[in-house]
Amino acid sequence: MIHLHAVSKTYPPEQMALRGVDLKVQQGEFIFVAGASGAGKSSLLKLLFGAERSSTGEVLIGGRNMASVSADGIAKLRREIGVIFQDYKLLPRRTVLDNVAYGLEVLGVEARERNRLALLLLHAMGLQDRAEAYPVTLSGGEQQRVAVARALVRKPRLILADEPTGNLDQEMSRRVFDLLLEANSAGVTVVVATHNLSVIEQLNKRTVVLDRGKIIGDFAHAGRLRA
Ligand SMILES: Nc1ncnc2c1ncn2[C@@H]1O[C@H](COP(=O)(O)OP(=O)(O)OP(=O)(O)O)[C@@H](O)[C@H]1O
Ligand SMILES: [Mg+2]
Repeated sequence: MIHLHAVSKTYPPEQMALRGVDLKVQQGEFIFVAGASGAGKSSLLKLLFGAERSSTGEVLIGGRNMASVSADGIAKLRREIGVIFQDYKLLPRRTVLDNVAYGLEVLGVEARERNRLALLLLHAMGLQDRAEAYPVTLSGGEQQRVAVARALVRKPRLILADEPTGNLDQEMSRRVFDLLLEANSAGVTVVVATHNLSVIEQLNKRTVVLDRGKIIGDFAHAGRLRA
């Protein structure tokens, strides 16, 4: 599903965010990308989503090489990806409901069904009462929950979640991870970037640790992480 080979990423003029990263993730895996602030977690996820291109090395998603895939190809690929950005990237001029339903519009789902599915997810995130609100009127945690609902509503094959619970309390984080685990049980590949060690330890999944752009550990289970 995901194959990175000798990938590095340098932001101009010379900010090295990733160095010599090799990583394989199979379809249906659940993995954490851990590491301190600035370690390169978001950069890695951006390469997987095609939001950034690698400076050297290869990024293959579902067999497609991100360096040579056309803009059209990237658009197609993104239809299969549910992404939760660290900064949410909600559409300010659309209501909460429309933010969540929008991705289904692109897939050609008709309006009534779009709204039904979007409301289901808003319900799961405890946001049904804010469906008609605009993002700017929401708290940070509420915006984050909208971003989670938007990523999940399309039933993607791959979920990329960048610090998806950074602004949420324990109860709400639990709900988000329950939804991610449920999707994963149904065969969805899930990649979660976080520096929250306690979440990683609780879920005890494969964990890749980044340090200053390099992978310094790849643990099948998080249990030994602190060792
Ligand atoms: N657009 C950019 N332009 C220049 N440098 C960048 C850019 N984005 C990230 N960087 C740099 O790349 C490095 C990795 O950043 P990245 O956002 O991937 O880290 P992170 O692990 O996601 O951190 P955090 O936990 O704080 O979200 C940092 O040194 C950062 O300053
Ligand atoms: Mg980040």
